[in-house]
Amino acid sequence: MSNLRIGLPSKGRLSDLASELLKEAGIKFRRQNRSLFAKVSDLPIEIIFLRTDDIPVLCGEGAIDMGITGSDLVAESQADVETRLSLGVGKCRLAVCVPDTMEITDPSELNGLRIATSFTNVTRTYLEQHSAQAHIVPLTGSVEIMITLGIADAIVDLVETGSTLAANRLKISHEIGHYETIIVQNKEKRHPELADRIVRRLEGVVIARGYSLLEYNIPRERLSKAENITPGFKSPTITSLEDSDWCAVRVMVKTKQVTSVMDQLEELGASAILETPINNCRL
Ligand code: PRP
Repeated sequence: MSNLRIGLPSKGRLSDLASELLKEAGIKFRRQNRSLFAKVSDLPIEIIFLRTDDIPVLCGEGAIDMGITGSDLVAESQADVETRLSLGVGKCRLAVCVPDTMEITDPSELNGLRIATSFTNVTRTYLEQHSAQAHIVPLTGSVEIMITLGIADAIVDLVETGSTLAANRLKISHEIGHYETIIVQNKEKRHPELADRIVRRLEGVVIARGYSLLEYNIPRERLSKAENITPGFKSPTITSLEDSDWCAVRVMVKTKQVTSVMDQLEELGASAILETPINNCRL
């Protein structure tokens, strides 16, 4: 049987994010001279470099077994694929955006307007759900300047930081959905064990990226309060110390919350509080 084929974005920000994630998960390959194929060392896997927006369709049709892409593109393509894992990167919103000076209180008020977007299918469904009939102007990019160019009254576009909107004097009127980078799989599921192993490895990297390992000593009488502050991913590991009034705790904490958790533990009387990054994990 042929190798398992994974589609990766060939260029752009997502291309680097996806390659890095696979490498951290031990799926190592070298792309030579912008080649469209790469062979993974030690595993029967081929990497195929594709346009990010073609990956959902090519995975649905079986040209690739798995692919890394955006959930926004899966929704727009209506491709019949299974989402295996969210990769914790590329988070964004798709939103109806209007000029700063325009007020739309209900999406039904989009009725009769011209809306520029590269997400025509998602937009059409959204308008139907809100009983609005609008003229959709289908585009592949630079949607944010279409109101200034006079061909649209509103746009539907992705918003990440909001700086593109601000630069074009636009604002979000209504959010349509939240999206992020995901790994999808063809529903025939060729090479199921290998595909599952890839997902487990990626999951280990994604969880490790979001968590730190925290270690601290705490008087036994305050342990239950400390456990409320740091309940852990599953549960904390408690070890006895030479001084039987004290114990040591090892626990996973969301990296974003570590500093405030350390403050709370210190206030509770914990000492020797240490944070260590986690490179990889299997839980
Ligand atoms: C997307 C989107 C917006 C921008 C939003 O474009 O279409 O233009 O990002 O990001 P912000 O809220 O952080 O400013 P992208 O950079 O993906 O390129 P594109 O124009 O080819 O869609």
